[in-house]
Amino acid sequence: MFTSEVDRQRLESLIEINTLINSQYKDVRLLLTQILECTIKLISCEASSLLLLNPENNKLYFEIALGSKGPEMQKFSLNLGEGIAGWVAAHNRSLIVNDVHKDERFFADISKKIGFQTNSIMAVPMRIKESCVGVIELINKTGQESFNNDDLRWLEIFATQAALAIQNAQNFQKVQKELHILQGQVSAEKGFHVFVGKSPSILERLNITEKIAATNSTVLITGESGVGKELFAEQIHLKSRRLDKPFIRINCAALPEFLLESELFGHIKGAFTDADNDRRGRFELADGGSIFLDEIGDMSHKLQVKLLRVLEQKIIEKVGSSEQIQVDVRIIAATNKDLEQEIEEGRFRQDLYYRLNVFPLHIPPLRERKEDIPPLSDYFLEKFSHEVKKNIQVFSPEAMEMLMAYAWPGNVRELQNVIERAVVISMHPHIYPEDLILKAAGSEKQEAYTGQSLKDAVNLFKKHFLKDALIHHKWKQGETARDLGIQRTYLSRLIREFNISK
Ligand SMILES: Nc1ncnc2c1ncn2[C@@H]1O[C@H](COP(=O)(O)OP(=O)(O)OP(=O)(O)O)[C@@H](O)[C@H]1O
Ligand SMILES: [Mg+2]
Repeated sequence: MFTSEVDRQRLESLIEINTLINSQYKDVRLLLTQILECTIKLISCEASSLLLLNPENNKLYFEIALGSKGPEMQKFSLNLGEGIAGWVAAHNRSLIVNDVHKDERFFADISKKIGFQTNSIMAVPMRIKESCVGVIELINKTGQESFNNDDLRWLEIFATQAALAIQNAQNFQKVQKELHILQGQVSAEKGFHVFVGKSPSILERLNITEKIAATNSTVLITGESGVGKELFAEQIHLKSRRLDKPFIRINCAALPEFLLESELFGHIKGAFTDADNDRRGRFELADGGSIFLDEIGDMSHKLQVKLLRVLEQKIIEKVGSSEQIQVDVRIIAATNKDLEQEIEEGRFRQDLYYRLNVFPLHIPPLRERKEDIPPLSDYFLEKFSHEVKKNIQVFSPEAMEMLMAYAWPGNVRELQNVIERAVVISMHPHIYPEDLILKAAGSEKQEAYTGQSLKDAVNLFKKHFLKDALIHHKWKQGETARDLGIQRTYLSRLIREFNISK
């Protein structure tokens, strides 16, 4: 049935690839890599590349490059018509060149730059609906042989498969993108964010969120700045039976006490100089829904007392009035402060803390849930490239490695900012490491020393050093002191002296 053993192997690979194409279309890069690996094996050669044509600028980009110089190849692009691959794309025709040095279409630049000796090339177009979307090229047939028409026939079959994989993936991405944009629009219209995350710790917390949502209990969300506390508050509201009622946000740190009081509870006409009319407060506006009290750790003592009453009796009083108004509001509070420490230092009421802390929800920092970095990055990439009307689809593997390795002190907010900037500055359909502007580890500290006197710099160093040690030991002073070889009492004196806090 087969003309040779080689043909049999090729056919088997083809069936294998076909199965892959039908079973997984999300990770098209992986699929294309597998297709390319197969071709390299079956038509034995030294290197192979898959180039995709960007219709916006008519350039061919090395999407995948296998062989000893593969990673370096990925930095290059070709104009339509440039080099063998460029010729194939421009003419939408296959080509075998068994001695590139005798063919003036050969573009020697790339081989020279990466130090790779190219002798022979076979290149075929990948087509979707007859038009060329990219090129697969094989380089240097091994075993002192030349590429022949039989090889070409098989490569064309593989290229058809690869094009199919690309088309599937494009369709999938298109639907996915439309879905995201639609979801985004619906939530954005109502002022909600699209929630992204797949790490076990986030999924576990989303699960808890659903249980919390079914109750009317108060929730206290804690976590570093930028971890997504507000998005969790939104999720609690959206999963509750209150979802069609208002979700009212208020930042307790943003307003001075008297304004915050009237914002929260409302006021009656004449309650203070500028009170020309009666005004309803946020608690009343949130009736039937939820109120999100952000930065609760910054609330003044007076308001803490008033809030405690709301929590205990579900009753509010407008500023300037003693009328008691009944409200039905689910309270969700958030802070990035350590409230227990705030209590210890007399800035936060313990009774209020217990009332708020019925359901504590701690959101871990991004560096402790790195699995969320790829989906968040993809989401922000899609969102911002849509906004600035650029068609940037993926991160290069090196760029993703960088994002994964970074510690993200500013958490998801910082990741979002870094990607927004990358999308704006990127000149390619990919994001490369040079597009990512990350703070060098410790650079903030480094800057802090410049221009200081020696004494101040030494003290600053001591402060950073002690803080890092405390963080390392999860703020256990005994352990930290032992590790640093000092007395515990001395350590607590230093903590006070340098004003070190969580
Ligand atoms: N899971 C997530 N999915 C999508 N976007 C997220 C997620 N988490 C955070 N973000 C993005 O990061 C930004 C910061 O999140 P958020 O405002 O909830 O942080 P926070 O924990 O309240 O920080 P802070 O304490 O500084 O107020 C949000 O505006 C949102 O765009
Ligand atoms: Mg916030």
